[in-house]
Amino acid sequence: MAKVLVIGSGGREHAIAWKFAQSEQVEQVYVAPGNPGMRDVAQCVDLSVHDFEGLKDFVKKEQIDLTFVGPEIPLCEGITDAFQQEGLAIFGPTKAAAQLEGSKVFAKEMMRKYGIPTAAYQSFSDYELALAYLKKQPMPVVLKADGLAAGKGVIIAQTRKEAEASLKAMMCNHLFDEAGSSVVIEEFLEGEEFSQLAFVNEELVIPMEIAQDHKRALDQDKGLNTGGMGAYTPVRHLPKEAIEQAVEQILKPMAQAMVKEGIPFQGVLYGGCMWTKKGVKTIEFNVRFGDPETEVLLLSMQDDLYRVIQKVMHKEPVTLHWGKEAVLGVVLANQGYPQSYAKGAIIEGLDQLDATVFHMGTGEKEGKTTAIGGRVLFVAEKGKDLKEAKEKVYQQIAKIRCDSLFWRNDIGDKGINQ
Ligand code: AMP
Ligand code: GLY
Repeated sequence: MAKVLVIGSGGREHAIAWKFAQSEQVEQVYVAPGNPGMRDVAQCVDLSVHDFEGLKDFVKKEQIDLTFVGPEIPLCEGITDAFQQEGLAIFGPTKAAAQLEGSKVFAKEMMRKYGIPTAAYQSFSDYELALAYLKKQPMPVVLKADGLAAGKGVIIAQTRKEAEASLKAMMCNHLFDEAGSSVVIEEFLEGEEFSQLAFVNEELVIPMEIAQDHKRALDQDKGLNTGGMGAYTPVRHLPKEAIEQAVEQILKPMAQAMVKEGIPFQGVLYGGCMWTKKGVKTIEFNVRFGDPETEVLLLSMQDDLYRVIQKVMHKEPVTLHWGKEAVLGVVLANQGYPQSYAKGAIIEGLDQLDATVFHMGTGEKEGKTTAIGGRVLFVAEKGKDLKEAKEKVYQQIAKIRCDSLFWRNDIGDKGINQ
């Protein structure tokens, strides 16, 4: 029987730990650092995601068979390289391969070089050159900070004035700290977004079911961009060609391109895709499971996650199986998120819920659950269709009592109203 360590502390990691805990081959799941809400499925280990030495020591001491990395930051900092140097089994890309998410300039250059469909763009590290290019672009236009910015480093400017002010804020006034010292200026694409994830090892690509996230903070896609406010799977109203193109024109060619570049990818590759009038285009790549897409995908996945990862690590093909039901989940976030928010409100009523609840950012005070993260809880349900799953989720959410939480009320509507 195997022991697994999951790195991270959010809802995605709760879902990953929950899924590993169901494996017949897994005897114990640890999460570092985890959060108190995960104790139903895993033992939390008080180690930071940046503490590679501490994590390696723990893995050796406890004889952990597999380490699975949830978030992008340790991957971009080279956790996989550090583990592999000592022969420790870890699932996730190396630092070089994680650049696909860590640098938008790198990702765009790879897409250009290998003909992977994406928005037209130019990248800049010089403000004056960037401004001159920006002045010639049609509006709206999209500005992206090169580096990691927790899903918030993208500005869609509607007017020239807004575009120029945003460029200045990013490049001269460090709006996204160092992440914005280089920027990508790209064409605004219109269409419907979806997330196509796959397990990848070099040229082996095992696509998952598709999911749809809701990136804006408020109903009707209003408000600021967030890490994601809700998700559902499958996305039945998108045509088969959309999925086929995402796999054949985006994920597979990128996996092959990484091999050709001498930086093969191993881990979960996430294609943020848009179905446009001219076919599927890549919005972004992530180098790990999405959050909250993972919560709904793993609820739908019928296979043993530990077995799947073992197969992928040995480059053996696997067929994935997905439940027939729709799965839909809603994020409960602290008022103010994605900007500053108050921390520590007590959440009551959670024990009344009859749904799957993944903890994204909870703490504990005197035995009570508290809201400490930006995103706090993820409440998910299954239904014969999206409409039923949605109704069930919101009925369950109504039982939660906590004044400082807010959520969107329209998760899944794009799929329901088709
Ligand atoms: P990203 O961090 O690259 O996923 O961007 C965040 C969000 O901004 C995406 O989920 C899209 O909704 C939007 N976005 C990014 N790039 C574009 C684009 N070229 N055209 C239209 N919307 C975009
Ligand atoms: N939900 C989008 C992401 O994980 O980046």
